[in-house]
Amino acid sequence: MKSLYGVIGSPIAHSMSPLIHNDAFLHNGMDAHYHAFHVDAGELETAVAGMRALGVNGFNVTIPHKEAIIPLLDSVEEAALKIGAVNTVVNKNGKLIGYNTDGRGFVEALKEVVELKNKHILIIGAGGAARAIFYTLAIEEGIHVDICNRTVSKSEDLVREFSLEQISRSITVEQAAKELDRYDVVVQTTSVGMFPKINDIPLALNSIKQHAVFSDIIYNPLETKLLREAKDLGAVTQNGIHMFAYQAALAFELWTGKLPDTDRMKNLVKEHLGGKTC
Ligand code: ATR
Repeated sequence: MKSLYGVIGSPIAHSMSPLIHNDAFLHNGMDAHYHAFHVDAGELETAVAGMRALGVNGFNVTIPHKEAIIPLLDSVEEAALKIGAVNTVVNKNGKLIGYNTDGRGFVEALKEVVELKNKHILIIGAGGAARAIFYTLAIEEGIHVDICNRTVSKSEDLVREFSLEQISRSITVEQAAKELDRYDVVVQTTSVGMFPKINDIPLALNSIKQHAVFSDIIYNPLETKLLREAKDLGAVTQNGIHMFAYQAALAFELWTGKLPDTDRMKNLVKEHLGGKTC
């Protein structure tokens, strides 16, 4: 029988997950289908019960359900509990198990362009995406991760909540801008610079470290103003397509045991968005 996978969220119509997962199923010769289900906030409980009743094999979870789904699952992996968000559910013999592949997806993508050991990293932002990335980066060996956010209390809370005072400081955006040349890697996790406000930039770039890597989780536009300016100053840049592909690939692996071709996923997304990438 054909296996069924999907994603639940609202809005969901423009999700690119069906495109890349259905292609991966086809490419791996698997008899499976991935469908986007529009589920509003008030319908989450019913939707999860429906997934159980229908025996759906696994699904992704996106805005606005990543936190709210946790108590509805049978178990949740430790990292997802710490991050406080689930983006992937596996149906294992009728038990729904929650995972978070956002943080690991980001870190795997970042490792494609930089070796993280002994690096000084700056995270811009302290929202949901930053939580997943901060937690996952911080468990890497021998790195230092500072975090800055418009609302400083939120970045301070994150350092405290994850008990990362030994390897991490919460700093203001102004301080981060002033000290930008200390950082080997700069990770942009806010919505600043996203379409349609493509001329916005989360912090001013004066001087940056030689060979610095700038990674922005935004993929619309493919090159944010931050990435463009960083590239002009000599940085290696990476856009959000890479994280998107890896978080999907890790979910696919949790469901099927097979890690799909991430380059293929990236190319499909790029093609779909119709542009060049960095
Ligand atoms: P996500 O789950 O996508 O991370 P979020 O949890 O709403 O979304 O977090 C959004 C992040 O973008 C936050 O760090 C937010 O900063 P605040 O905590 O100060 O709100 C940041 N952000 C959004 N709009 C911003 C803006 N115009 N300038 C600076 N930061 C902004």
